[in-house]
Amino acid sequence: MNNSIKSRPLTLDVNGKTYGPYEVPEDMMMVDVLHEYLNLTGTRFGCGQGECGACTVIVDDAAGPREVRTCITGAHYFQGRKVRTIEGHARHDEKGAVVALSAVQQAFVDHYSFQCGYCTPGFVNAATVLVETLQRAPIAEHEVDAAVTAALDPHLCRCTGYVRYFEAVREVVLNTPGLVRRGNHG
Ligand code: FES
Ligand code: FES
Repeated sequence: MNNSIKSRPLTLDVNGKTYGPYEVPEDMMMVDVLHEYLNLTGTRFGCGQGECGACTVIVDDAAGPREVRTCITGAHYFQGRKVRTIEGHARHDEKGAVVALSAVQQAFVDHYSFQCGYCTPGFVNAATVLVETLQRAPIAEHEVDAAVTAALDPHLCRCTGYVRYFEAVREVVLNTPGLVRRGNHG
């Protein structure tokens, strides 16, 4: 019996940088490649079953950004795709030091949205996808609460009551120009 696991070359575009090619086993999940090959350890492994959202990254397609669970998605699925991880949100200086958080990250800090922070990378990516989706397709003000709830609902947090995550994202959506249609036509 041949137990050898086949490998294939994998080249990744993550946070605007090209990684690889690496020889990656065909059955390896993306979260493991991020951790073991790219040393990008901010993406969290939680349930391992696609249920909690901790391992979420953003994939940027022509149709726009979308969330993908990396614990249940093979690394080779990402060949040729553009990926963003939690490491790609803040602005860094040339030495790699963080100089500014993204609006979503800053709102989570300002609202004390997290405690242990294990779930936070997934929430940042979910909220970022929502914000960028609304940039392409603004909604009426009365639709904001439902849109925020729908974006955050698939993400689990064992520490908080979700309220501060919700309030932070709601604030970002309402305060970022162009996401919400206001007035008589809203
Ligand atoms: Fe991937 Fe929970 S670790 S969804
Ligand atoms: Fe601990 Fe969400 S802050 S799991």
